[in-house]
Amino acid sequence: MKVLVINGPNLNMLGYRPKEHYGALTLDEINNYLLENSSSLELNFYQSNYEGDIVTEIQKAINNYDAIIINPAAYTHTSVAIRDALEMFRGIKVEVHLSHVDEREDFRRINYIRDVCDITFSGRQKDSYLDAVNYILNNK
Ligand code: DQA
Repeated sequence: MKVLVINGPNLNMLGYRPKEHYGALTLDEINNYLLENSSSLELNFYQSNYEGDIVTEIQKAINNYDAIIINPAAYTHTSVAIRDALEMFRGIKVEVHLSHVDEREDFRRINYIRDVCDITFSGRQKDSYLDAVNYILNNK
């Protein structure tokens, strides 16, 4: 089972971002935490600050991956392009957020991604990603 974990803009800066929302771990530390807890999955990681690059990565995943875990970060609230790319992907799609994205500012409740994904996990910091991994393990 091949899984692509995609992280959007500013998630490469975890560690510098507000810890009350995002926790203290860096993205590499989160990725290593997932690797330690997903031995039967093949996990690959991609991060970009650029919308079009994320779209291209999703397109490339269409015939190469069984599942996508995606935290589109700020693009969650703005990107029809990422939504349209995810819509084409036929495998398992899991939306993830570190923070309680629906309980913050109003603009973060606008979500272009959720209804093209199978499920969303949010508000559990690094464990939102672990929930996504476990969902895939239980539904593969
Ligand atoms: C985020 C929530 C988004 O609103 C924000 O823009 C992010 C991270 C999260 O993981 O909680 O950059 O996706």
